[in-house]
Amino acid sequence: MFSALALLSAALVPQLVSGQVPRLGGVNTAGFDFTVYTNGSFTNNAAAPPTWQYAHFSGEGANLYRIPFAWQEMTPTLGGPINETFFYEEYNPIVQAALASGPDSYIIVDVHNYARWNGEIIAQGGPTNEEYASLWSQLSTLYGGNTRLLFGLMNEPHDLDIPTWAESVQYVVNAIRAAGAQNYLLLPGSNYTSAATFPTGAGPYLLNVTDPLGGTEKLIFDVHRYLDYDNSGTHAECVTNNTEVFETLVSWLQENGNRQAILSETGGGNTASCDEYLYQELAYIKATYPSMVGFSVWAAGSFATNYILSMTPYSNGTDQPLWNVAVRPNLPAPV
Ligand SMILES: *[C@@H]1O[C@H](CO)[C@@H](O)[C@H](O)[C@H]1NC(C)=O
Ligand SMILES: *[C@@H]1O[C@H](CO)[C@@H](O)[C@H](O)[C@H]1NC(C)=O
Ligand SMILES: *[C@@H]1O[C@H](CO)[C@@H](O)[C@H](O)[C@H]1NC(C)=O
Ligand SMILES: *[C@@H]1O[C@H](CO)[C@@H](O)[C@H](O)[C@H]1NC(C)=O
Ligand SMILES: *[C@@H]1O[C@H](CO)[C@@H](O)[C@H](O)[C@H]1NC(C)=O
Ligand SMILES: *[C@@H]1O[C@H](CO)[C@@H](O)[C@H](O)[C@H]1NC(C)=O
Repeated sequence: MFSALALLSAALVPQLVSGQVPRLGGVNTAGFDFTVYTNGSFTNNAAAPPTWQYAHFSGEGANLYRIPFAWQEMTPTLGGPINETFFYEEYNPIVQAALASGPDSYIIVDVHNYARWNGEIIAQGGPTNEEYASLWSQLSTLYGGNTRLLFGLMNEPHDLDIPTWAESVQYVVNAIRAAGAQNYLLLPGSNYTSAATFPTGAGPYLLNVTDPLGGTEKLIFDVHRYLDYDNSGTHAECVTNNTEVFETLVSWLQENGNRQAILSETGGGNTASCDEYLYQELAYIKATYPSMVGFSVWAAGSFATNYILSMTPYSNGTDQPLWNVAVRPNLPAPV
């Protein structure tokens, strides 16, 4: 299925081959997204992720950090200009700390708004595609020069018309390229970007999204998957390693032009069941590169160390047990 060069590269070192992002593994650093609700409202309890965590995790072999933010923080007026105080004094310093934490650190710039602004869906009664694209056109001007910044076009769209959503995705892809940015773009489906329903839900529509740069190497599908009984990521116990879900997804990717996906959220509690199942899930993701580009677990950053899915290290520098057992061995180059 894959070129010998890609397989050789994947087996030896996770280096960038032409048009392909290296194998990625790391963690979400939450905080700027705090109190964005699933209806796209935001009550501004944002808390900047602590910068020391990036050097900490990179020292252990992580090379991917997803840094969510609320759309309303970045552009306080819908369709209006980026708040330069927020961007230059708050968000960008965190992004720069993450980039500086390792020579091959990749960052997902993630607008965490569920395809919504204050309860209303993009191009489906709410913001226009132009207003949505305005955010990304501005970010493209600011971040287009660095292809280690992956653009997460939207966190967890849900309960919307999928064909219309695919048109919004195409609109924003075109706007990003028109602004001159060549970054990798993470395309989200619906159903909270469920990995399980992607091949039969939004997947067939997002396959038709084209890249004005040509090819599809820079269009990566964005999926999420948890391991608790209802796939909500709100319970400490894990009940599955999701192998069937990812086998189905990987087959679908390979059958549809050798496309790629990234697991940008997954995780569990500090329990024996998650030690076992999360380890197995991430080992599978790591083994299926380059179909699966990699993973970022949920979540460190400003979460307390006792949050149910916390990956936040303790103040004495010790990691969460689940991180040590299940995540760290599956990082691209574990130390
Ligand atoms: C811009 O961001 C700064 C820093 O977060 C904040 O204090 C200010 O209120 C924001 N401006 C607007 C118009 O929201
Ligand atoms: C969004 O959800 C929050 C939390 O449930 C709620 O307080 C708020 O009123 C909702 N906003 C809109 C616009 O529906
Ligand atoms: C969303 O996922 C749920 C299960 O997680 C499934 O029952 C439902 O059919 C999915 N919806 C779509 C539109 O794929
Ligand atoms: C994708 O495009 C192809 C070719 O134009 C078309 O046949 C197919 O129906 C499209 N798929 C969806 C889900 O719209
Ligand atoms: C996931 O669990 C199934 C069922 O227990 C098992 O057959 C499979 O080998 C596991 N997958 C991995 C990657 O360990
Ligand atoms: C660090 O703190 C955690 C949480 O309080 C504790 O479980 C662990 O034993 C501590 N480790 C060291 C080396 O002090």
